[in-house]
Amino acid sequence: MKAVKKPLTILVTGASKGIGFDLAQRLQKWGHRVIGVARSQPIEPFTFTFLSCDLTDKEAVSKLPDALKKVSPQLDVVIQNAGLGYGGSVEELPDDAFEKTLALNVLAINRLNRLLLPMIKDARGYIIHVGSVAGDLAIPFQTFYSASKAALERYSEGLRNELKPFGVRVVTIKPGDTQSQFSANRVTVYQKESPYYERIQRSIQRMEADEKSGMPTHSVFRVIKKIITRKNPPVSVTIGLSYQFLQLLNRILPKKFVQFILYQLYGK
Ligand SMILES: NC(=O)c1ccc[n+]([C@@H]2O[C@H](COP(=O)([O-])OP(=O)(O)OC[C@H]3O[C@@H](n4cnc5c(N)ncnc54)[C@H](OP(=O)(O)O)[C@@H]3O)[C@@H](O)[C@H]2O)c1
Repeated sequence: MKAVKKPLTILVTGASKGIGFDLAQRLQKWGHRVIGVARSQPIEPFTFTFLSCDLTDKEAVSKLPDALKKVSPQLDVVIQNAGLGYGGSVEELPDDAFEKTLALNVLAINRLNRLLLPMIKDARGYIIHVGSVAGDLAIPFQTFYSASKAALERYSEGLRNELKPFGVRVVTIKPGDTQSQFSANRVTVYQKESPYYERIQRSIQRMEADEKSGMPTHSVFRVIKKIITRKNPPVSVTIGLSYQFLQLLNRILPKKFVQFILYQLYGK
């Protein structure tokens, strides 16, 4: 890979593992200056700058811009990648499961964006939100996750037009199933006595198998690479041919039929 002509300063959240770690490593290798954020340091060796922060901790996040400025006075790209998911039914998941999902997948993103906007506007840079195909196709027993990613995408679109006159580009990328630690980190709640038990078990097993055999994390890097070299990047990019096809079907097929297919795959 040829080194970049103009190195950018790029912040990647959720950089300790999975998609975020791969992105941070590859972007740094490509010649950019990368700052990765997560609660725990990556286990594998890494070459980017790492800042430890729980993105749902308001006080810790408020200190991030100053910590960042010590590494670089400039910030060109923010990749909002940190995310989590719960597996289980709306009825039986703990009371705070939806709050916790929204806290990281939506509210923490907004908080960090607002803090970093002065720097991003100065650079006429990019904000890239990591959404999901599950934001367009509501997955039963991952309803909170799907709802959070749908909210994130609408947020991203609104922000894009607000920032347009400042030259800031806002994009959502929507990976399909990707090999990462997401399955292992998904908190799944279901009990043997539950009337949902077998359906949740089947649904989560299918989801985990899909993620295991999913795309490699570098598929996301390839898309990011293109976005940050484009003056006018698309509003959103779905990653993976089969997922682009799914999105097309979702647009043209009757909603009831799409719901029927989702039930067969993940709800039955
Ligand atoms: N894998 C897939 O199939 C897939 C598909 C579509 C979209 N996505 C999206 O891609 C993004 C990355 O997911 P992944 O698959 O790479 O998952 P992952 O392997 O579980 O990585 C999640 C990252 O988020 C960080 N994180 C979690 N809670 C945090 C917090 N409170 N503060 C700071 N960092 C936190 C984790 O680090 P620490 O635990 O060290 O904090 C980790 O680095 C997510 O937004 C996910 O929704 C994934």
